[in-house]
Amino acid sequence: MREIQSCDEILGCPRCDRSPLQPADDGLHCSGCQTRFPVFDGIPWLFAEPAAAVAEWRQRLGMVVAKREDDAKAIEKRLTGRDLGALTRSRLELLARSYRENARDLVELLEPVQVSGDTPYATQLALRTRMPAPQGIATYYANVHRDWGWGAEENAVSLDLVRTALGDEVAPGRVLTLGAGACRLAYDFHRTLGATSSIALDINPFLLLLTARLLRGETIRLHEFPIAPRRLADNAVLRELAAPHTPCDNFQLVLADALRPPFARESFDTVITPWLVDIVSEEFALLARRVNGLLRKGGRWVMFGSLSFAHQDAALRYSLEEVLELTQQAGFAMPQAQETTIPYMCSPASRHGRNEMVVSFATEKLKSVKRAQRHSALPDWIVERDQPVPLLPSFEMQAMSTRVYAMIMGMIDGRRSIRDMAAIMEQKRLMTRQDAEPAIRGFLIKMYDESQQGENS
Ligand SMILES: C[S@@+](CC[C@H](N)C(=O)[O-])C[C@H]1O[C@@H](n2cnc3c(N)ncnc32)[C@H](O)[C@@H]1O
Repeated sequence: MREIQSCDEILGCPRCDRSPLQPADDGLHCSGCQTRFPVFDGIPWLFAEPAAAVAEWRQRLGMVVAKREDDAKAIEKRLTGRDLGALTRSRLELLARSYRENARDLVELLEPVQVSGDTPYATQLALRTRMPAPQGIATYYANVHRDWGWGAEENAVSLDLVRTALGDEVAPGRVLTLGAGACRLAYDFHRTLGATSSIALDINPFLLLLTARLLRGETIRLHEFPIAPRRLADNAVLRELAAPHTPCDNFQLVLADALRPPFARESFDTVITPWLVDIVSEEFALLARRVNGLLRKGGRWVMFGSLSFAHQDAALRYSLEEVLELTQQAGFAMPQAQETTIPYMCSPASRHGRNEMVVSFATEKLKSVKRAQRHSALPDWIVERDQPVPLLPSFEMQAMSTRVYAMIMGMIDGRRSIRDMAAIMEQKRLMTRQDAEPAIRGFLIKMYDESQQGENS
């Protein structure tokens, strides 16, 4: 097992909150709830249900690899057509070859995780933990290229914003970055702003396993697939990813859920949340209390990113004013927010890139507040088998459209036209023929569009 650096005494159990964890064979052990946590390539996996987390990420990896292979196969099939011009043929050959190589590279990168283990799903349910559905292995794939392959500009701008927010009177001390992604900001911060030790935490093993190798001084060759390639050769760009300075001492990667942070209370002098607060499922007010619990009194929270909350409940899609007030209510000084427009994910190989007006602030923890309860990913009626499942408005809508969808799908037999199907719907007294025709056409357009969508749409 590779050594875990400099943070053993502050690592705590994400399941029962006991700290510190004890070193055990090939991992860490909680003497409170007797859970064993694996360590892969020097990265502790501190999920409340570690075996289920490993199994789930392995499954997600399998899906990404299968998708790459599938995409390659579809393109190879297309290449058998005689209608292709020479340039189109060379673009498709590049893509097919690159998808295949990328599938192999991903398997190799995630090799440390290829362990066997059952998925005790029932336990996971009981603990109300689970991997957030939108977080796939490849969700932030482009971030690794931005962080370690595209050059200095975007990374330097982010570091500068954080540095300005913090000012230079107070030393950052012991630093935790939550949702560190491919870790460039955490790394630059650690190296240049004088942190005594740093922990970079993320939920995505692909990002951290890759970073771990870069921090050991390896150069990794990995394809980028830009959203809007500028030139033919930009459809698949084999990049060389490398960290500018290695090794990086007192810098530890931790794989965990930021909503169940595996640390003893008040362990940090600085907590950074770059581009995180609006993408987690937890509402901002609770997350702010969680950050409070991680900081010692007088420590500082550096918030950085867009405030583009996407909660179902409109009341939780906070404005900047509400965010500032809630931060203060969570035991911090009233933040002085700065708004700055910066380039975001502008690949040199892509025509697509954004400008984002980001908010940044650093605020001091003035007092401790009531501890945020353990994060529950699932409601009672999913966990308990005997509770009635509520008929939520969105379920009702979905049930309705699923019925119509199933009915239309059932009528497609390769012979019937839209007019024939509308007649059947009228016979069954579901809709008038007049209403049914546009409704069926709408469904078919949606299905057709979905069948035509490519990788980056
Ligand atoms: C928008 S990206 C930002 C990445 C990085 N901070 C940056 O500035 O490039 C959000 C990151 O949060 C991570 N993330 C999402 N949900 C998380 C959770 N519950 N716990 C820890 N990390 C999470 C994602 O894996 C991703 O790396």
